[in-house]
Amino acid sequence: MLLDNKPRYAFDDVLLEPNYSDILSRSEIDISQSLEGLDSLFTLPIISSPMDTVTSSKMASAMSIAGGLGIIHRYNSVAEQAKLVDEAFEFGALEVGAAVGVTNDYLERARSLHKAGCRIICVDIAHGHHKLMEMALGEIRSALGDDIRIMAGNIATGYAVHDLIAWGADSLRVGIGGGSICKTRIETGHGVPTLHSIFECYGTDIGATLIADGGIKNSGDIVKALAAGADFVMIGSLLAGTDESPGDVFITEDGRKRKLYRGMASKEAQKDWRGSYSSIEGITSSVEYKGSVENVLLELDQGIRSGLSYSGARTLIELRENASFIIQTSAGAVESSTHINNR
Ligand code: XMP
Repeated sequence: MLLDNKPRYAFDDVLLEPNYSDILSRSEIDISQSLEGLDSLFTLPIISSPMDTVTSSKMASAMSIAGGLGIIHRYNSVAEQAKLVDEAFEFGALEVGAAVGVTNDYLERARSLHKAGCRIICVDIAHGHHKLMEMALGEIRSALGDDIRIMAGNIATGYAVHDLIAWGADSLRVGIGGGSICKTRIETGHGVPTLHSIFECYGTDIGATLIADGGIKNSGDIVKALAAGADFVMIGSLLAGTDESPGDVFITEDGRKRKLYRGMASKEAQKDWRGSYSSIEGITSSVEYKGSVENVLLELDQGIRSGLSYSGARTLIELRENASFIIQTSAGAVESSTHINNR
């Protein structure tokens, strides 16, 4: 047993200190990013989560058209998922990612996705630093070679970065237990604040493409994640509840429009996709209906650009170079949120 008593900071524990800036307009700022091994450039460093209430064909195409990327979820048959990929390309996506697991049909799924035109396969499991991940990465890579880029996760530590890159991953989803619908830390006692994981994974001597995943509540958190070393962020709850997320709008008793948003390890999601449940590590919830995802992404884009401007940075590389994180107290965190309603 080991006790490491150094604090691990979460998004709300830190702020970025404003820097001298000579940026006159947000249009001078370039937030484009590339994904390891791919020639395409993403003009928005945001990826939508492979969840059945977040990314299907409409979300994947909207994400791509907005300059980001969507990862089509794997909670369907091999044929259904290939059809969703196909539709996303028809709806106008330039690049579509899709998820596979590490058991049962994952190799057949990966082959079918590749055939459907996916160049990004996301090996999507809750605890990615695992022997099954090693085996799946080896098999997928030997079946499909260097034609595809493999995104793998989730992981939380620098040790996992070393292993997953050695096993054949190109990019890594970083964050365990921080998602808005997660119960992993409650049920298992395991996890690491997502921001800390990013700091740690970025600090390894391996230049892996890192995707901060879980717990992003606003564009401020995105800026913090990018400044801490993430190349992209992956988002569920902020993109759920839009026209492009799967599922219908429902109206609550007090007349508010909402849409379902659920963890893929929630009891309900497990029952739907495999008929039974075990080890419930997520919850089913709902989020406010937000209209078109294009507007949500536009607001996030503007917020990220403003963030770079406060750091005096014109690119994501400059943001990371200029970033100066400070720790805030709990009183500081209260002051950092809008607090008129507390009075
Ligand atoms: P946000 O905070 O953006 O998080 O809503 C989305 C991320 O949460 C992860 N995810 C889960 N984690 N139990 C978990 O512990 C679950 O049931 C679950 N479903 C999704 C996933 O990484 C996603 O991108």
